[in-house]
Amino acid sequence: MKEINTSNEKTTQIAIFASGTGSNAARLMAHFARHATIKIALVVCNKPTAPVLQHADAFGVPSLLVTAAEWQNPEIILKKLQASAIDFIVLAGFLWRIPPALVDAFSQRMINLHPSLLPKYGGKGMYGMRVHEAVVAARETETGITIHYVNEAYDEGAVLAQYRCPVAPADTAEIVSAKIHALEMEFFPKVVENLLV
Ligand code: GRF
Repeated sequence: MKEINTSNEKTTQIAIFASGTGSNAARLMAHFARHATIKIALVVCNKPTAPVLQHADAFGVPSLLVTAAEWQNPEIILKKLQASAIDFIVLAGFLWRIPPALVDAFSQRMINLHPSLLPKYGGKGMYGMRVHEAVVAARETETGITIHYVNEAYDEGAVLAQYRCPVAPADTAEIVSAKIHALEMEFFPKVVENLLV
C-alpha cells in the first residue's frame, strides 16, 4: 500500500454508508488510515445505535447520522456530502434504498458490496443471513461476494469483482456467513484501492 504523504496527488475522499455492525467499514478505515491518496472522510449511517458509529469514532472518522425525513430530500444529503468534499461512496451494509438523485450525482463513483455471486441472491429483501439461508436452501456448491457499481436497480450495476468460496453439503447459513466474512475482510479493501489509485 502507498504510504508516502509527500506527493501532490489529489486525495480521493470516501464516504462509507453503513447501517449495522460495520466490520467492513472498520476494515476499510484501518486499511486506508495512512494511505497517501485515499481517505475515509465520512461514515453515513441511518441508525443511532449501529456499532459502525463506534468504529468511526475509534478511527477518528466523522460520522453523519441521517434521518428518514432527510433521506426523502436528497438535496440535503448531497449538500452534506459536498461539505465533506466526498468524491466516492462505498456502500457496506447500508439498508436504505439510495435515492435516484444520489445515484445520478455519484454515477460511476458509488460501489456496493454484496454477500453473494450476483445476479444470484440479489435484489430487494436479499441481505444479511437471508442471503446465506437461501444459498443453503438451494444446495449451492459455491457462493461468494460481489463488488459492483450502484445504479437505480437493486444489485444490478456493473460488476467490478467477484470472489468465490465452496459451500459444503453440511454447511449451515452461519458457516457460509463466516466464509463470506473472510472473503470480505480479505478482498474488499484491495478492490477499493485498485479502483481508486
Ligand atoms: C456484508 O456482508 C456486506 O456484504 C453486506 O452487508 C454486510 C455488512 O456487514 N452488504 P458489516 O456491517 O460490514 O459487518
